[in-house]
Amino acid sequence: SPPGYDLWLGYSEIEEPALLKEYQNTFKSIYFQNGNEMLHAAERELTTGIKKMLRKLPDFEKLRNSENTVVIAKKSNLESSLLKRLAFDFDQLGADGFVIKTVLFERKQVLIVTANEDIGILYGVFGLLNLMQQRESLKHIMLSDAPKVNIRMLNHWDNLDRTVERGYAGFSLWNWQKLPEYIDQRYIDYARANASIGINAVSLTNVNANALILTPAYLEKVQALAKVFRPYGIKIYLTARFSAPIEIGGLETADPLDLNVQNWWHGKVKEIYDYIPDFGGFLVKANSEGQPGPQNYGRSHVDGANMMAMALEPFGGNVIWRAFVYSEHDTSDRAKQAYTQFVPFDGKFRDNVLVQTKNGAIDFQPREPFHPMFGAMPKTPLMMEFQITQEYLGFSTHLVFLPKLFEEVLHSDTYSKGKGSTVAKVIAGSLNQKKLTGMAGVANIGTDLNWTGHPFAQANWYGFGRMAWDPYLDSETIANEWIKATYSQNPNFITAIKSMMLTSREAVVNYMNPLGLHHIFDTGHHYGPGPWVSELSRPEWNPVYYHKADEKGIGFNRTPSGSDATAQYAPELAKIFNDPKTCPEEYLLWFHHLPWDYKLKNGHTLWDGLALKYQQGVDQVKTMIVTWDDSKQYITPEQHNEVRMLLQIQLREAKWWRDACLLYFQTFSKQALPEGVNKPT
Ligand code: GCU
Repeated sequence: SPPGYDLWLGYSEIEEPALLKEYQNTFKSIYFQNGNEMLHAAERELTTGIKKMLRKLPDFEKLRNSENTVVIAKKSNLESSLLKRLAFDFDQLGADGFVIKTVLFERKQVLIVTANEDIGILYGVFGLLNLMQQRESLKHIMLSDAPKVNIRMLNHWDNLDRTVERGYAGFSLWNWQKLPEYIDQRYIDYARANASIGINAVSLTNVNANALILTPAYLEKVQALAKVFRPYGIKIYLTARFSAPIEIGGLETADPLDLNVQNWWHGKVKEIYDYIPDFGGFLVKANSEGQPGPQNYGRSHVDGANMMAMALEPFGGNVIWRAFVYSEHDTSDRAKQAYTQFVPFDGKFRDNVLVQTKNGAIDFQPREPFHPMFGAMPKTPLMMEFQITQEYLGFSTHLVFLPKLFEEVLHSDTYSKGKGSTVAKVIAGSLNQKKLTGMAGVANIGTDLNWTGHPFAQANWYGFGRMAWDPYLDSETIANEWIKATYSQNPNFITAIKSMMLTSREAVVNYMNPLGLHHIFDTGHHYGPGPWVSELSRPEWNPVYYHKADEKGIGFNRTPSGSDATAQYAPELAKIFNDPKTCPEEYLLWFHHLPWDYKLKNGHTLWDGLALKYQQGVDQVKTMIVTWDDSKQYITPEQHNEVRMLLQIQLREAKWWRDACLLYFQTFSKQALPEGVNKPT
């Protein structure tokens, strides 16, 4: 396969002789429970992995016998004596969990991979392969794992013409023209990659939806994809355009309280389930950025969401209703609007509705404080929406390791039930005892040979999946796993590249949006700097709205003397944010408008500190290049060169950001650049 195509599933050969020997002994005779297509998919994956890592086809036995050194089977298929040996409480595994354990059985070591359900076996096999990719000994292995979140989902923003909104890795994978007959191998490899990290749901289409996806001509194609994804435990969701009853149903209204509209959705849902019996449900963007919604008829988000929820309920489907709303009629602080619109509805949504909320209150910026809704809707299942595609983070050109960002948000404390009420607990449902939980990531995947454009953007897909499975995982663990599975086992390489990845997110914050600045991107494309943009029709689309720089200072006052957005956070937090002395400096200009000579914690004035942050961002990219060059010997020249070229662009653009922002802000601060900051060239 072309370079990068295999993602983290390259299964590179085991080179350490002792470990190779151990694995060869372990995999002498494998009993793999026979069964449905999901178990077959798992067995195929194990075959591929072992063949590549051990250079030898494994010996599978269809009948359990005393020679077996590996036993892979559901609990219901294990003999009671072996179960006894295993001594494991299966209740804690749920449907998706698995256990991998080596036991001494009839005087022999036997490696067992077991689970309650087929899907647990699939995840268990990927878990086992991952251990081998991490070069872990299996001799005394005892690993049990189960996901902490139910719906672990990718949101593709793919249009039916195969363009991808905010997609930077080629065109959409979904070849609607050739579907349903033609099944591209990529669909299968995509499903394998997702299953390997536990992703179990995908929404195929753009949230700015086209109603045509709900017509039979397309449902037939969706059905074909569902068939490919099913053995990998992946359910399909579709984006539902709120005005579909008018556009494809011939009705005159889409009013959710209109009986004909309700009947239309009931009929449509039934039709979809005829095609796809395990259909996941709808993802809906309504009354947001010009999309139609219940408010067009004087109804509320609850009216709209519950109407669809009722249609899906009998089939076990869900409505994922997005909270990304801000209105041209509301002139208050945009950061406050979703909270204002949604929090009063807490407890009013039907049981199969999740409210999907972006990690921050503006829009996928390099850094935002967590969205205050996470601490304010205890009666509603809140689903996290992260963006994996790097809309505001240098597209697929800049190297930015996003699990750092994800982790920062998930570890944030909402204080909603006192100290320790982290966003992760809200998402995992443990804080408010939620049964239905979810995390979504806007996909960064396209037809590029390596799927994601930048080779390191693969780590963001990987990391998202791992954190959706376990929101308490730390980004360093994820980086470590990914590097080993993708690039090299060499400890020097791993140490160096891990530190490069772990600083990359702070670097991009520094050279784009330091000290809490946000949304100062150039219009529309959101790629380069545009802090000066001020002429767009809606005020909240203009960067000047967000930085509010003037001769006196810079920043958005969101304290009680300003927009009072801090009041949407728990009182303990609001207090911290309200005082510039206690407000974490990474959020300083998010919450405060401060004079240019305001003193930062390190003693610098705000102007000097800001300039130095921009410079630091540039310097960090320079260091990334040195690190990458020093690691050349551990990878192929092609692998080295592609990232090197990208890093050179990143460096040039980091300087561009620094120079553009500082030159512009300097027209207000009217101060010289401090020592240490390079003059624009
Ligand atoms: C951002 C993005 C849009 C997208 C929107 C959304 O504003 O720029 O392309 O449609 O988010 O999440 O709905």
